[in-house]
Amino acid sequence: MGESTVYGGGFAALYDLFQSAKNYNAEARFVRDAADEILGMRGKTLKVLDLACGTGSHAIALSGMKCDVTGVDVSRDMLALARRKASAAKRRIRFVQQDLASLDPVEGWAPSPTQPRRAGEGARPSTESGWDLVTCLFDSLGYLRSDARIQRALRRIHRATKPGGLVILEVWHAPAMLAGFDPLRVRRVRGRGIEAVRIGETRLRGEHLAEVRYEIFSRKGEGAWHRFVETHVNRFFTQSEIAGLVSRAGLRVVRVTGGYDAAAAPDDAAWHLVLIAQRGTESR
Ligand SMILES: C[S@@+](CC[C@H](N)C(=O)[O-])C[C@H]1O[C@@H](n2cnc3c(N)ncnc32)[C@H](O)[C@@H]1O
Repeated sequence: MGESTVYGGGFAALYDLFQSAKNYNAEARFVRDAADEILGMRGKTLKVLDLACGTGSHAIALSGMKCDVTGVDVSRDMLALARRKASAAKRRIRFVQQDLASLDPVEGWAPSPTQPRRAGEGARPSTESGWDLVTCLFDSLGYLRSDARIQRALRRIHRATKPGGLVILEVWHAPAMLAGFDPLRVRRVRGRGIEAVRIGETRLRGEHLAEVRYEIFSRKGEGAWHRFVETHVNRFFTQSEIAGLVSRAGLRVVRVTGGYDAAAAPDDAAWHLVLIAQRGTESR
């Protein structure tokens, strides 16, 4: 699998601790509300494909909002945590390991309980009608780095979305990033008997990429410190760059906000853009 060098076991184990201030429920509410409004599906079960789902926090929150969710991620370690969290929350969510760069949302996936298999379909689930909503949140698309790979993934996302369905992407916003990134950032977190210190060193690579080298120290209780390093490379986007890529994949941009707030302008101060796009109603 292409990107297995990031989000390995040590990083995955500390992921939720470092994101503990993030309000996943409010973000999931924004996503569900947008789909309800644009698709007119309030009160109905929404089929959601959450790409680069990580430890499943959005997926679990959405499944509590009448969504039938499938989560996809390249990292086995992030998925293992997602499965454990979903099971503890008594949520029925499928989690599948796959690289966004070669996304194939049909092959080998378990059938949805809301989509009975038809005679002659064998082990292949029916995704004929596609997903009502495909999400790729928290800057995950940028891990594909190159526009060619991002474009390919967006075309596959288009294909996975049912005609008339929605795609919601959250990407890292270039103006805020370029004006305000910290070349050196240190954070200490504590929780669940674990203490961790993360040193993040960011440098720009070319015009569109940020390379962040994380050096992480963690320990359980008063035990010995363990150290590991992960280097993440992520593409950041101007609004016109991401809108152009999305449009070229055949999706129509419906709205862009500066985060998970319908009133937040996508201005230069916004660190993240949330872009909502819609597939045309043409049949496949
Ligand atoms: C910043 S985390 C976001 C996780 C989750 N969406 C959230 O909001 O917490 C980025 C995620 O993208 C995943 N990822 C990175 N490259 C990927 C790829 N090529 N295919 C699928 N997932 C990928 C990582 O494993 C990680 O779980």
